[in-house]
Amino acid sequence: MGRKKSLKLAEVDYLPNVFSHRFGKIEERMLEYLPPAEQFVLELGCGRGDYSIALAEKYPYKNFVGFDIRGARIWSGSKKTEELGLKNVAFVIARAEFLPEIFTKIKFDEIWIPFPDPFPRKRSTNRRLVAPGFLERYRQIIKPGALIHLKTDDDGLYNYALETLSENNAEIIENSPNLYENEDLDFEKTIKTKYEEEHLKNGKIIKLITFKLE
Ligand SMILES: C[S@@+](CC[C@H](N)C(=O)[O-])C[C@H]1O[C@@H](n2cnc3c(N)ncnc32)[C@H](O)[C@@H]1O
Repeated sequence: MGRKKSLKLAEVDYLPNVFSHRFGKIEERMLEYLPPAEQFVLELGCGRGDYSIALAEKYPYKNFVGFDIRGARIWSGSKKTEELGLKNVAFVIARAEFLPEIFTKIKFDEIWIPFPDPFPRKRSTNRRLVAPGFLERYRQIIKPGALIHLKTDDDGLYNYALETLSENNAEIIENSPNLYENEDLDFEKTIKTKYEEEHLKNGKIIKLITFKLE
């Protein structure tokens, strides 16, 4: 591991807006940190938290939670949030497998899953963030009617998501196989994460699926 990464990992657990699952129950402390709000938005596999940060600037009355297992990426998001003076963003370092254990009080209005790892091998199917096991966990932490958005460049993951959602009684609200074909997009759909910038540079086609779970 490089020196910069080890320094980030040594510091990240002590940043005021970062809550690490390995230190036990974190939801209560996170709620004390965040301002009172009616609406909560979760960004899963957030990396540097690009979605949470862009949305938090636009919607100061909502709270945003960036969630990832990689502390060094969360460190970057936390520092940027601090520079911008955003108080309505918190970050959680944990595996998405623990979502229902972590969030027992907060019910999310919306979930963004920008560019999750495609895990192309058959034996890793269950690790895809739209696998049935994850959909079941999302059901436990959302408000009825919550919107869940998946953005990906990966054809395999996109097709897998459509198939899995249909088999698991999800309601597809939007299916855009080529998102930027449409020139009249809402701001939310056009936020570019670090990975999205890379994919666009490489000429990849970006896809978006928005769905609801019963
Ligand atoms: C391809 S990166 C995309 C990062 C960011 N969303 C972006 O678009 O720039 C996928 C992210 O998902 C995270 N991730 C993968 N599986 C996860 C899991 N089970 N729980 C939490 N985070 C996970 C990885 O650590 C990684 O940061």
